[in-house]
Amino acid sequence: MELNAAIETRSLNKRFGGVVAADNVNFKVLSGELRCMIGPNGAGKSTLFAMLCGLESADSGQIFVFGQDVTRTQAFKRVRLGVGLTFQTNRAFHDLSVRENLTIPRASAKQENMEVGQARLAFALDAFGLDPNDQTKAGELPHNQLQWLEMAMILVGYPNLILLDEPTAGMAPEETQQTAKVLKHLNSTGLTTVVVEHDMAFVKDIAQTVTVLHQGQVFAEGSVAEITAHENVRKIYLGRA
Ligand SMILES: Nc1ncnc2c1ncn2[C@@H]1O[C@H](COP(=O)(O)OP(=O)(O)OP(=O)(O)O)[C@@H](O)[C@H]1O
Ligand SMILES: [Mg+2]
Repeated sequence: MELNAAIETRSLNKRFGGVVAADNVNFKVLSGELRCMIGPNGAGKSTLFAMLCGLESADSGQIFVFGQDVTRTQAFKRVRLGVGLTFQTNRAFHDLSVRENLTIPRASAKQENMEVGQARLAFALDAFGLDPNDQTKAGELPHNQLQWLEMAMILVGYPNLILLDEPTAGMAPEETQQTAKVLKHLNSTGLTTVVVEHDMAFVKDIAQTVTVLHQGQVFAEGSVAEITAHENVRKIYLGRA
């Protein structure tokens, strides 16, 4: 077990009936990294995230978070280890106000991260133009603000590690750029970040290292330049864009 790994999976496998969603996945992200994950539809990106945070169980293999074996640890206990996740479909409570959405996750806040956690949250709320006392129902927010609200909701828990599943889906280019700016800043404060995205301009803007998943396997890994120049990655993924 590498000491400075935020995430490490060993030979992770997951099937849904005949579908292989994870095929011997060895995936490692170092503490403090900003990693992007790309891959065709159905590659297994969301399933890997679900296994990392404990919403899906692995059929076999192991998952370590900050050095702890969490393979059989329930999702809420992983939250206490500092794992935050946003979903591909927005999970903010539409019938609750912005304020309420930002209050509920507070119960899981990691007290040892309070100072840096509060600063990260304050930065994000400000950059996203969200007022933590706003009584507007979340369902009435424009799409981009709803996406941003969900990102802010994970920060309320003062996580050490955030997993973002297509956070800029449906955003206008300038909103995507604003999201990139915020994620880069949060990462600069030491927040380990893994982002699944299809938007290659966004990936090029933020990524340090890119992992390509394909058919449940880690297909390639490298810098943005290496990945975009990778002939087989072009064939399976980039070529279609
Ligand atoms: N709960 C489930 N039950 C059955 N099959 C599932 C389930 N979740 C995912 N799958 C299947 O597992 C495979 C991987 O799906 P996953 O959602 O992880 O892909 P993805 O890389 O996130 O794709 P996308 O880019 O479309 O979001 C797909 O074939 C999908 O249909
Ligand atoms: Mg997905």
